[in-house]
Amino acid sequence: MPKDNRPVGLTRMPNGQDAPRTYAIRTFGCQMNEHDSERIAGLLEADGLVPVEGDDSSADVIVLNTCCIRENADNKLYGHLGHLKSLKEQRPGMQIAVAGCLAQKDREAIRERAPHVDAVFGTHNVHRAAELLAQAGTSGPVTEILDATVLEDRDAFPSALPVRRGAGYAAWVTIQIGCDNSCAFCIVPAVRGPEISRPMADVVAEVEGLAAEGVTEVTLLGQNVNSYGRDRAGQPRPLFAPLLRAVGAVEGIRRVRYTSPHPKDFRADTIAAMAETPEVCEHLHLPLQSGSDRVLSAMHRGYTGARYLEKLAAARAALDDLAVTTDIIVGFPGETDAQFADTLEVAAEARFDSAYTFIYSPRPGTEAAEQVDEYVDRAVIGERFDRLCVVIDRSTRLAHESRVGRIEEVVVEGPSRTDAEVTTGRTRQNKLVHFAAPPLRVGTLASVEVTRAGGHSLRGELREVLAAPRHRTRIPVVVA
Ligand code: 5AD
Ligand code: SF4
Repeated sequence: MPKDNRPVGLTRMPNGQDAPRTYAIRTFGCQMNEHDSERIAGLLEADGLVPVEGDDSSADVIVLNTCCIRENADNKLYGHLGHLKSLKEQRPGMQIAVAGCLAQKDREAIRERAPHVDAVFGTHNVHRAAELLAQAGTSGPVTEILDATVLEDRDAFPSALPVRRGAGYAAWVTIQIGCDNSCAFCIVPAVRGPEISRPMADVVAEVEGLAAEGVTEVTLLGQNVNSYGRDRAGQPRPLFAPLLRAVGAVEGIRRVRYTSPHPKDFRADTIAAMAETPEVCEHLHLPLQSGSDRVLSAMHRGYTGARYLEKLAAARAALDDLAVTTDIIVGFPGETDAQFADTLEVAAEARFDSAYTFIYSPRPGTEAAEQVDEYVDRAVIGERFDRLCVVIDRSTRLAHESRVGRIEEVVVEGPSRTDAEVTTGRTRQNKLVHFAAPPLRVGTLASVEVTRAGGHSLRGELREVLAAPRHRTRIPVVVA
Protein backbone atom coordinates (compact mmCIF):
# COMPACT_ATOMS: atom_id res chain seq x y z
CA MET A 1 0.00 0.00 0.00
CA PRO A 2 1.36 3.51 -0.71
CA LYS A 3 2.95 5.14 2.30
CA ASP A 4 -0.02 7.42 3.07
CA ASN A 5 -2.28 4.36 3.37
CA ARG A 6 -4.46 5.04 0.39
CA PRO A 7 -5.56 1.80 -1.28
CA VAL A 8 -2.91 0.45 -3.64
CA GLY A 9 -5.03 1.08 -6.71
CA LEU A 10 -5.21 4.85 -6.25
CA THR A 11 -2.70 7.63 -6.81
CA ARG A 12 -3.05 11.29 -5.68
CA MET A 13 -3.15 13.65 -8.66
CA PRO A 14 -1.78 17.26 -8.65
CA ASN A 15 -5.40 18.46 -8.36
CA GLY A 16 -5.69 16.57 -5.07
CA GLN A 17 -8.05 13.93 -6.44
CA ASP A 18 -7.41 10.23 -6.42
CA ALA A 19 -7.01 8.60 -9.84
CA PRO A 20 -6.59 4.89 -10.49
CA ARG A 21 -2.94 3.86 -10.47
CA THR A 22 -1.67 2.63 -13.80
CA TYR A 23 0.46 -0.39 -14.60
CA ALA A 24 2.57 -1.73 -17.46
CA ILE A 25 4.10 -5.17 -17.89
CA ARG A 26 7.12 -5.78 -20.09
CA THR A 27 7.22 -9.45 -21.01
CA PHE A 28 10.32 -11.26 -22.23
CA GLY A 29 10.46 -14.83 -23.44
CA CYS A 30 8.03 -17.59 -24.08
CA GLN A 31 4.28 -18.14 -24.00
CA MET A 32 4.48 -19.31 -20.38
CA ASN A 33 5.75 -15.86 -19.51
CA GLU A 34 3.11 -14.15 -21.61
CA HIS A 35 0.51 -16.19 -19.79
CA ASP A 36 2.02 -15.29 -16.40
CA SER A 37 1.89 -11.64 -17.47
CA GLU A 38 -1.81 -12.02 -18.18
CA ARG A 39 -2.25 -13.32 -14.65
CA ILE A 40 -0.23 -10.46 -13.15
CA ALA A 41 -2.32 -8.00 -15.18
CA GLY A 42 -5.52 -9.66 -13.97
CA LEU A 43 -4.42 -9.42 -10.33
CA LEU A 44 -3.37 -5.79 -10.61
CA GLU A 45 -6.68 -4.91 -12.27
CA ALA A 46 -8.60 -6.77 -9.58
CA ASP A 47 -6.72 -4.50 -7.17
CA GLY A 48 -7.98 -1.38 -8.92
CA LEU A 49 -5.08 -0.59 -11.23
CA VAL A 50 -5.67 0.21 -14.89
CA PRO A 51 -3.40 -0.41 -17.89
CA VAL A 52 -1.32 2.65 -18.76
CA GLU A 53 -2.06 4.33 -22.05
CA GLY A 54 0.73 5.47 -24.36
CA ASP A 55 4.33 5.42 -23.13
CA ASP A 56 4.59 2.50 -20.72
CA SER A 57 7.33 4.15 -18.66
CA SER A 58 4.75 6.66 -17.39
CA ALA A 59 2.99 3.85 -15.47
CA ASP A 60 2.82 3.96 -11.67
CA VAL A 61 3.68 0.26 -11.50
CA ILE A 62 6.07 -1.38 -13.97
CA VAL A 63 6.56 -5.13 -13.91
CA LEU A 64 9.46 -6.71 -15.81
CA ASN A 65 8.59 -10.35 -16.45
CA THR A 66 11.96 -11.88 -17.26
CA CYS A 67 13.22 -14.89 -19.20
CA CYS A 68 16.61 -16.58 -19.07
CA ILE A 69 16.27 -19.36 -21.64
CA ARG A 70 18.41 -17.95 -24.44
CA GLU A 71 18.99 -14.27 -24.40
CA ASN A 72 21.51 -12.36 -22.48
CA ALA A 73 18.70 -11.66 -20.10
CA ASP A 74 20.86 -10.14 -17.38
CA ASN A 75 22.17 -7.32 -19.54
CA LYS A 76 18.73 -6.66 -20.86
CA LEU A 77 17.16 -6.59 -17.40
CA TYR A 78 19.78 -4.28 -15.88
CA GLY A 79 19.49 -2.01 -18.92
CA HIS A 80 15.75 -1.64 -18.27
CA LEU A 81 16.30 -1.23 -14.54
CA GLY A 82 18.96 1.46 -15.06
CA HIS A 83 16.56 3.49 -17.13
CA LEU A 84 13.72 3.00 -14.66
CA LYS A 85 15.98 4.11 -11.78
CA SER A 86 16.20 7.65 -13.09
CA LEU A 87 12.44 7.71 -13.70
CA LYS A 88 11.84 6.58 -10.15
CA GLU A 89 14.04 9.35 -8.80
CA GLN A 90 11.73 11.82 -10.53
CA ARG A 91 8.56 9.97 -9.48
CA PRO A 92 9.14 8.36 -6.08
CA GLY A 93 5.58 6.95 -5.97
CA MET A 94 6.40 4.67 -8.85
CA GLN A 95 6.85 0.97 -8.11
CA ILE A 96 9.06 -1.50 -9.99
CA ALA A 97 8.73 -5.28 -9.83
CA VAL A 98 10.90 -7.99 -11.35
CA ALA A 99 9.18 -11.32 -11.95
CA GLY A 100 9.82 -14.51 -13.90
CA CYS A 101 12.75 -16.86 -14.50
CA LEU A 102 15.58 -14.44 -13.85
CA ALA A 103 13.97 -13.32 -10.60
CA GLN A 104 13.64 -16.97 -9.62
CA LYS A 105 17.30 -17.63 -10.41
CA ASP A 106 19.09 -14.41 -9.44
CA ARG A 107 17.04 -12.98 -6.60
CA GLU A 108 20.01 -11.78 -4.50
CA ALA A 109 21.88 -10.27 -7.43
CA ILE A 110 18.84 -8.24 -8.43
CA ARG A 111 18.41 -6.97 -4.88
CA GLU A 112 22.06 -5.97 -4.68
CA ARG A 113 22.43 -4.42 -8.11
CA ALA A 114 19.05 -2.72 -8.20
CA PRO A 115 17.97 -1.67 -4.70
CA HIS A 116 15.35 0.60 -6.27
CA VAL A 117 13.30 -2.48 -7.21
CA ASP A 118 10.23 -2.72 -4.94
CA ALA A 119 9.27 -6.35 -5.43
CA VAL A 120 11.06 -9.44 -6.72
CA PHE A 121 8.95 -12.54 -7.17
CA GLY A 122 9.55 -15.86 -8.88
CA THR A 123 7.70 -17.99 -11.37
CA HIS A 124 5.69 -19.65 -8.60
CA ASN A 125 4.67 -16.47 -6.78
CA VAL A 126 2.75 -14.84 -9.60
CA HIS A 127 -0.47 -15.16 -7.61
CA ARG A 128 1.04 -12.86 -4.94
CA ALA A 129 1.92 -10.02 -7.35
CA ALA A 130 -0.61 -7.48 -6.11
CA GLU A 131 -0.13 -8.31 -2.41
CA LEU A 132 3.66 -8.04 -2.67
CA LEU A 133 3.47 -4.65 -4.35
CA ALA A 134 1.05 -3.46 -1.66
CA GLN A 135 3.37 -4.79 1.04
CA ALA A 136 6.36 -3.05 -0.56
CA GLY A 137 4.35 0.18 -0.51
CA THR A 138 4.00 0.10 3.26
CA SER A 139 7.12 -1.64 4.52
CA GLY A 140 9.75 -1.34 1.79
CA PRO A 141 11.20 -3.73 -0.79
CA VAL A 142 10.11 -7.38 -0.71
CA THR A 143 11.47 -10.54 -2.27
CA GLU A 144 9.42 -13.72 -2.41
CA ILE A 145 10.59 -16.81 -4.26
CA LEU A 146 8.90 -20.14 -3.76
CA ASP A 147 10.96 -23.25 -4.41
CA ALA A 148 9.48 -25.49 -7.12
CA THR A 149 9.87 -28.57 -4.94
CA VAL A 150 7.48 -27.36 -2.25
CA LEU A 151 4.61 -26.27 -4.45
CA GLU A 152 0.99 -26.78 -3.54
CA ASP A 153 -1.40 -27.21 -6.50
CA ARG A 154 -2.77 -23.73 -5.78
CA ASP A 155 0.65 -22.18 -6.43
CA ALA A 156 1.53 -24.43 -9.35
CA PHE A 157 -1.71 -23.86 -11.25
CA PRO A 158 -3.39 -20.74 -9.96
CA SER A 159 -6.33 -21.08 -12.36
CA ALA A 160 -8.76 -19.37 -10.02
CA LEU A 161 -6.85 -16.09 -10.38
CA PRO A 162 -8.23 -13.26 -12.42
CA VAL A 163 -6.62 -13.20 -15.85
CA ARG A 164 -6.50 -10.33 -18.27
CA ARG A 165 -6.25 -12.15 -21.53
CA GLY A 166 -4.40 -10.60 -24.46
CA ALA A 167 -6.79 -11.88 -27.12
CA GLY A 168 -10.34 -12.33 -25.93
CA TYR A 169 -11.20 -15.23 -28.22
CA ALA A 170 -8.06 -17.24 -27.39
CA ALA A 171 -6.57 -18.39 -24.12
CA TRP A 172 -3.55 -20.27 -22.85
CA VAL A 173 -4.15 -23.10 -20.43
CA THR A 174 -1.26 -24.50 -18.40
CA ILE A 175 -1.38 -28.29 -18.21
CA GLN A 176 2.07 -28.88 -16.76
CA ILE A 177 4.91 -26.89 -15.26
CA GLY A 178 8.60 -27.69 -14.95
CA CYS A 179 10.62 -30.26 -16.85
CA ASP A 180 12.16 -33.62 -15.89
CA ASN A 181 14.50 -33.78 -18.89
CA SER A 182 18.07 -32.64 -18.81
CA CYS A 183 18.87 -31.24 -22.24
CA ALA A 184 22.48 -30.14 -21.91
CA PHE A 185 21.84 -26.60 -23.19
CA CYS A 186 18.70 -25.84 -21.21
CA ILE A 187 18.24 -23.84 -18.01
CA VAL A 188 14.51 -24.57 -17.71
CA PRO A 189 14.72 -27.57 -15.33
CA ALA A 190 16.95 -25.55 -12.97
CA VAL A 191 14.61 -22.57 -12.96
CA ARG A 192 11.16 -24.04 -13.38
CA GLY A 193 11.77 -27.18 -11.32
CA PRO A 194 10.52 -30.75 -11.78
CA GLU A 195 7.51 -31.61 -13.92
CA ILE A 196 4.16 -31.25 -12.22
CA SER A 197 1.05 -32.16 -14.21
CA ARG A 198 -2.20 -30.50 -13.50
CA PRO A 199 -5.15 -32.80 -12.81
CA MET A 200 -7.12 -33.43 -15.99
CA ALA A 201 -10.43 -32.47 -14.39
CA ASP A 202 -8.96 -29.06 -13.48
CA VAL A 203 -7.72 -28.47 -17.02
CA VAL A 204 -11.09 -29.40 -18.50
CA ALA A 205 -12.92 -27.27 -15.94
CA GLU A 206 -10.78 -24.27 -16.83
CA VAL A 207 -11.45 -24.80 -20.54
CA GLU A 208 -15.20 -25.09 -19.84
CA GLY A 209 -15.05 -21.83 -17.90
CA LEU A 210 -13.22 -20.14 -20.75
CA ALA A 211 -15.71 -21.46 -23.30
CA ALA A 212 -18.53 -20.09 -21.16
CA GLU A 213 -16.86 -16.66 -21.45
CA GLY A 214 -16.84 -16.97 -25.24
CA VAL A 215 -13.29 -18.25 -25.75
CA THR A 216 -13.16 -20.42 -28.87
CA GLU A 217 -9.44 -21.27 -29.09
CA VAL A 218 -7.16 -22.70 -26.41
CA THR A 219 -3.45 -23.47 -26.44
CA LEU A 220 -2.34 -26.07 -23.92
CA LEU A 221 1.02 -25.15 -22.41
CA GLY A 222 3.75 -27.33 -20.96
CA GLN A 223 7.51 -27.78 -21.38
CA ASN A 224 7.08 -31.37 -22.49
CA VAL A 225 3.37 -31.97 -23.00
CA ASN A 226 3.66 -35.59 -24.10
CA SER A 227 4.96 -36.64 -20.72
CA TYR A 228 1.87 -35.06 -19.17
CA GLY A 229 0.75 -37.22 -16.25
CA ARG A 230 4.03 -39.07 -15.82
CA ASP A 231 4.57 -37.50 -12.40
CA ARG A 232 1.15 -38.67 -11.24
CA ALA A 233 2.03 -42.36 -11.42
CA GLY A 234 0.26 -44.40 -8.78
CA GLN A 235 -2.84 -42.27 -9.07
CA PRO A 236 -5.14 -42.92 -12.05
CA ARG A 237 -2.62 -41.50 -14.48
CA PRO A 238 -3.88 -38.81 -16.81
CA LEU A 239 -2.41 -38.91 -20.33
CA PHE A 240 -1.96 -36.25 -22.95
CA ALA A 241 -3.94 -37.92 -25.76
CA PRO A 242 -7.16 -38.29 -23.72
CA LEU A 243 -6.65 -34.75 -22.47
CA LEU A 244 -6.54 -33.45 -26.05
CA ARG A 245 -9.76 -35.31 -26.81
CA ALA A 246 -11.46 -34.03 -23.66
CA VAL A 247 -10.49 -30.42 -24.34
CA GLY A 248 -11.63 -30.70 -27.96
CA ALA A 249 -15.00 -32.01 -26.74
CA VAL A 250 -15.73 -28.91 -24.64
CA GLU A 251 -18.78 -27.18 -26.07
CA GLY A 252 -17.86 -23.92 -27.80
CA ILE A 253 -14.15 -24.68 -28.35
CA ARG A 254 -13.34 -24.57 -32.05
CA ARG A 255 -9.56 -24.72 -32.06
CA VAL A 256 -7.12 -26.55 -29.80
CA ARG A 257 -3.36 -26.04 -30.06
CA TYR A 258 -0.56 -27.22 -27.83
CA THR A 259 3.11 -26.54 -27.26
CA SER A 260 5.56 -28.15 -26.98
CA PRO A 261 5.79 -31.89 -27.46
CA HIS A 262 9.20 -33.57 -27.19
CA PRO A 263 10.08 -35.83 -30.15
CA LYS A 264 11.18 -38.69 -27.88
CA ASP A 265 7.75 -38.79 -26.19
CA PHE A 266 5.63 -38.02 -29.25
CA ARG A 267 3.72 -41.21 -30.03
CA ALA A 268 0.90 -42.79 -32.03
CA ASP A 269 -1.72 -42.12 -29.35
CA THR A 270 -1.19 -38.37 -29.66
CA ILE A 271 -1.27 -38.55 -33.46
CA ALA A 272 -4.54 -40.53 -33.28
CA ALA A 273 -6.05 -38.03 -30.85
CA MET A 274 -5.11 -35.21 -33.20
CA ALA A 275 -6.57 -37.03 -36.19
CA GLU A 276 -9.81 -37.92 -34.43
CA THR A 277 -10.46 -34.60 -32.71
CA PRO A 278 -11.57 -32.11 -35.35
CA GLU A 279 -10.96 -29.17 -33.04
CA VAL A 280 -7.22 -29.93 -32.77
CA CYS A 281 -5.51 -27.77 -35.38
CA GLU A 282 -3.33 -29.17 -38.16
CA HIS A 283 -0.16 -27.80 -36.67
CA LEU A 284 2.66 -29.56 -34.87
CA HIS A 285 5.56 -27.73 -33.26
CA LEU A 286 8.17 -30.44 -32.81
CA PRO A 287 11.58 -29.10 -31.69
CA LEU A 288 14.40 -30.80 -33.63
CA GLN A 289 17.32 -28.88 -32.03
CA SER A 290 19.88 -30.65 -34.27
CA GLY A 291 19.94 -33.18 -37.10
CA SER A 292 23.25 -34.72 -36.05
CA ASP A 293 23.01 -37.92 -34.01
CA ARG A 294 26.24 -37.08 -32.18
CA VAL A 295 25.01 -33.64 -31.24
CA LEU A 296 21.57 -34.94 -30.29
CA SER A 297 23.23 -37.47 -28.04
CA ALA A 298 25.48 -34.82 -26.46
CA MET A 299 22.35 -32.74 -25.93
CA HIS A 300 20.67 -35.77 -24.24
CA ARG A 301 17.67 -35.48 -26.52
CA GLY A 302 16.86 -39.19 -26.71
CA TYR A 303 16.29 -39.53 -30.48
CA THR A 304 18.24 -39.55 -33.73
CA GLY A 305 17.66 -37.54 -36.89
CA ALA A 306 16.19 -40.62 -38.59
CA ARG A 307 13.84 -41.31 -35.67
CA TYR A 308 12.65 -37.72 -35.73
CA LEU A 309 11.87 -38.00 -39.45
CA GLU A 310 10.02 -41.28 -38.88
CA LYS A 311 7.79 -39.67 -36.28
CA LEU A 312 7.14 -36.78 -38.60
CA ALA A 313 6.23 -39.14 -41.43
CA ALA A 314 3.80 -40.98 -39.14
CA ALA A 315 2.16 -37.69 -38.16
CA ARG A 316 1.90 -36.54 -41.77
CA ALA A 317 0.46 -39.88 -42.88
CA ALA A 318 -2.33 -39.62 -40.32
CA LEU A 319 -3.01 -35.89 -40.48
CA ASP A 320 -3.94 -34.28 -43.78
CA ASP A 321 -2.53 -30.84 -44.26
CA LEU A 322 -0.30 -30.90 -41.21
CA ALA A 323 1.95 -27.85 -40.81
CA VAL A 324 5.16 -28.58 -38.94
CA THR A 325 7.35 -26.04 -37.18
CA THR A 326 10.44 -26.55 -35.09
CA ASP A 327 13.28 -25.13 -32.98
CA ILE A 328 16.90 -25.57 -34.07
CA ILE A 329 20.06 -24.56 -32.23
CA VAL A 330 23.17 -23.67 -34.22
CA GLY A 331 26.63 -23.93 -32.67
CA PHE A 332 26.09 -26.32 -29.78
CA PRO A 333 29.55 -26.84 -28.19
CA GLY A 334 31.67 -29.15 -30.33
CA GLU A 335 29.35 -29.02 -33.38
CA THR A 336 31.50 -29.77 -36.44
CA ASP A 337 30.88 -28.75 -40.05
CA ALA A 338 29.87 -32.31 -40.89
CA GLN A 339 27.45 -32.45 -37.95
CA PHE A 340 25.94 -29.16 -38.98
CA ALA A 341 25.55 -30.52 -42.51
CA ASP A 342 23.41 -33.30 -40.98
CA THR A 343 21.16 -30.64 -39.50
CA LEU A 344 20.78 -29.04 -42.92
CA GLU A 345 19.93 -32.40 -44.41
CA VAL A 346 17.33 -33.36 -41.82
CA ALA A 347 15.82 -29.87 -41.96
CA ALA A 348 15.52 -30.07 -45.75
CA GLU A 349 13.95 -33.50 -45.54
CA ALA A 350 11.54 -32.43 -42.83
CA ARG A 351 10.14 -29.65 -45.05
CA PHE A 352 9.34 -27.40 -42.13
CA ASP A 353 6.66 -24.76 -42.54
CA SER A 354 8.85 -22.54 -40.42
CA ALA A 355 11.50 -22.78 -37.75
CA TYR A 356 12.77 -20.80 -34.81
CA THR A 357 16.51 -20.87 -35.31
CA PHE A 358 18.71 -20.02 -32.33
CA ILE A 359 22.36 -19.38 -31.87
CA TYR A 360 23.60 -21.49 -28.98
CA SER A 361 23.84 -19.39 -25.86
CA PRO A 362 25.71 -20.75 -22.84
CA ARG A 363 23.45 -20.71 -19.80
CA PRO A 364 25.56 -20.79 -16.63
CA GLY A 365 24.67 -23.88 -14.61
CA THR A 366 23.89 -26.09 -17.61
CA GLU A 367 26.08 -29.01 -18.70
CA ALA A 368 26.92 -27.60 -22.12
CA ALA A 369 28.02 -24.24 -20.73
CA GLU A 370 30.90 -26.03 -18.98
CA GLN A 371 32.37 -27.15 -22.31
CA VAL A 372 34.12 -23.84 -22.82
CA ASP A 373 36.94 -25.39 -24.88
CA GLU A 374 34.43 -26.64 -27.40
CA TYR A 375 32.51 -23.43 -27.96
CA VAL A 376 32.11 -22.87 -31.69
CA ASP A 377 33.65 -19.74 -33.19
CA ARG A 378 31.11 -16.89 -33.56
CA ALA A 379 31.93 -16.31 -37.22
CA VAL A 380 31.45 -20.00 -38.00
CA ILE A 381 28.12 -19.98 -36.16
CA GLY A 382 27.02 -16.91 -38.10
CA GLU A 383 27.81 -18.55 -41.41
CA ARG A 384 26.02 -21.79 -40.41
CA PHE A 385 23.04 -19.83 -39.20
CA ASP A 386 22.70 -18.10 -42.58
CA ARG A 387 22.91 -21.41 -44.42
CA LEU A 388 20.21 -22.88 -42.22
CA CYS A 389 17.95 -19.88 -42.82
CA VAL A 390 18.26 -20.44 -46.58
CA VAL A 391 17.07 -24.05 -46.17
CA ILE A 392 14.20 -23.05 -43.89
CA ASP A 393 13.13 -20.11 -46.07
CA ARG A 394 12.98 -22.43 -49.05
CA SER A 395 10.66 -24.92 -47.34
CA THR A 396 8.56 -22.10 -45.87
CA ARG A 397 8.02 -20.67 -49.31
CA LEU A 398 7.10 -24.09 -50.74
CA ALA A 399 4.68 -24.70 -47.87
CA HIS A 400 3.08 -21.30 -48.44
CA GLU A 401 2.84 -21.80 -52.19
CA SER A 402 1.03 -25.09 -51.64
CA ARG A 403 -1.77 -23.12 -49.94
CA VAL A 404 -2.48 -20.88 -52.96
CA GLY A 405 -5.95 -21.50 -54.36
CA ARG A 406 -7.20 -23.10 -51.15
CA ILE A 407 -10.06 -21.88 -49.04
CA GLU A 408 -8.82 -21.50 -45.47
CA GLU A 409 -10.76 -21.09 -42.25
CA VAL A 410 -9.33 -17.97 -40.66
CA VAL A 411 -9.76 -16.32 -37.26
CA VAL A 412 -9.44 -12.53 -37.43
CA GLU A 413 -6.63 -11.07 -35.32
CA GLY A 414 -7.28 -7.44 -36.23
CA PRO A 415 -6.21 -4.85 -38.79
CA SER A 416 -2.84 -5.47 -40.40
CA ARG A 417 0.04 -3.67 -38.65
CA THR A 418 1.10 -1.93 -41.82
CA ASP A 419 -2.21 -1.23 -43.58
CA ALA A 420 -5.45 -0.48 -41.72
CA GLU A 421 -7.50 -1.41 -44.80
CA VAL A 422 -6.17 -4.93 -44.58
CA THR A 423 -7.30 -7.52 -42.05
CA THR A 424 -4.98 -10.14 -40.59
CA GLY A 425 -6.16 -13.58 -39.58
CA ARG A 426 -4.69 -16.94 -38.67
CA THR A 427 -5.37 -20.26 -40.35
CA ARG A 428 -5.70 -23.58 -38.54
CA GLN A 429 -2.13 -24.29 -39.63
CA ASN A 430 -1.13 -21.17 -37.68
CA LYS A 431 -0.24 -19.13 -40.74
CA LEU A 432 -0.97 -15.44 -41.02
CA VAL A 433 -3.21 -14.36 -43.89
CA HIS A 434 -3.75 -10.75 -44.94
CA PHE A 435 -6.92 -9.93 -46.83
CA ALA A 436 -9.01 -6.90 -47.71
CA ALA A 437 -12.26 -6.83 -45.75
CA PRO A 438 -14.72 -4.45 -44.15
CA PRO A 439 -13.87 -4.00 -40.45
CA LEU A 440 -14.29 -7.38 -38.76
CA ARG A 441 -14.16 -7.89 -35.02
CA VAL A 442 -11.21 -9.73 -33.54
CA GLY A 443 -12.15 -13.40 -33.22
CA THR A 444 -14.49 -13.44 -36.22
CA LEU A 445 -14.37 -16.73 -38.12
CA ALA A 446 -14.14 -16.28 -41.88
CA SER A 447 -13.31 -18.25 -44.96
CA VAL A 448 -10.59 -16.78 -47.11
CA GLU A 449 -9.22 -17.91 -50.45
CA VAL A 450 -5.43 -17.84 -50.51
CA THR A 451 -4.27 -15.94 -53.58
CA ARG A 452 -0.56 -15.37 -52.98
CA ALA A 453 2.28 -16.83 -50.95
CA GLY A 454 4.81 -14.64 -49.18
CA GLY A 455 7.93 -15.47 -47.21
CA HIS A 456 6.27 -14.92 -43.84
CA SER A 457 2.57 -14.86 -44.56
CA LEU A 458 -0.17 -15.42 -47.11
CA ARG A 459 -2.41 -13.03 -49.03
CA GLY A 460 -6.04 -13.84 -49.64
CA GLU A 461 -9.54 -12.73 -50.49
CA LEU A 462 -12.48 -12.86 -48.13
CA ARG A 463 -15.08 -15.38 -49.27
CA GLU A 464 -17.51 -15.51 -46.37
CA VAL A 465 -17.92 -14.50 -42.75
CA LEU A 466 -18.65 -17.77 -40.96
CA ALA A 467 -19.25 -16.76 -37.35
CA ALA A 468 -19.10 -13.70 -35.13
CA PRO A 469 -16.86 -13.72 -32.06
CA ARG A 470 -18.47 -14.56 -28.73
CA HIS A 471 -16.08 -12.90 -26.28
CA ARG A 472 -15.89 -9.34 -24.97
CA THR A 473 -13.22 -7.27 -26.79
CA ARG A 474 -9.98 -6.66 -24.91
CA ILE A 475 -6.77 -4.79 -25.58
CA PRO A 476 -3.66 -6.91 -26.17
CA VAL A 477 -1.00 -7.22 -23.47
CA VAL A 478 2.27 -5.63 -24.67
CA VAL A 479 5.11 -8.06 -25.31
CA ALA A 480 8.63 -6.57 -25.19
N1 5AD B 1 20.79 -21.60 -26.47
C1 5AD B 1 20.08 -21.48 -27.59
N2 5AD B 1 18.79 -21.89 -27.72
C2 5AD B 1 18.22 -22.45 -26.63
N3 5AD B 1 16.99 -22.94 -26.44
C3 5AD B 1 16.90 -23.36 -25.17
N4 5AD B 1 18.06 -23.16 -24.53
C4 5AD B 1 18.91 -22.60 -25.42
C5 5AD B 1 20.25 -22.16 -25.36
N5 5AD B 1 20.98 -22.28 -24.26
C6 5AD B 1 15.97 -23.01 -27.48
C7 5AD B 1 15.61 -24.46 -27.82
C8 5AD B 1 14.23 -24.60 -27.23
C9 5AD B 1 13.69 -23.20 -27.35
C10 5AD B 1 12.53 -22.89 -26.46
O1 5AD B 1 14.78 -22.39 -27.01
O2 5AD B 1 15.58 -24.60 -29.21
O3 5AD B 1 13.42 -25.53 -27.92
FE1 SF4 C 1 14.58 -27.64 -21.75
FE2 SF4 C 1 14.79 -30.08 -22.82
FE3 SF4 C 1 13.00 -29.60 -20.86
FE4 SF4 C 1 12.59 -28.57 -23.31
S1 SF4 C 1 12.63 -30.77 -22.78
S2 SF4 C 1 12.38 -27.49 -21.32
S3 SF4 C 1 14.68 -28.13 -23.95
S4 SF4 C 1 15.23 -29.52 -20.67
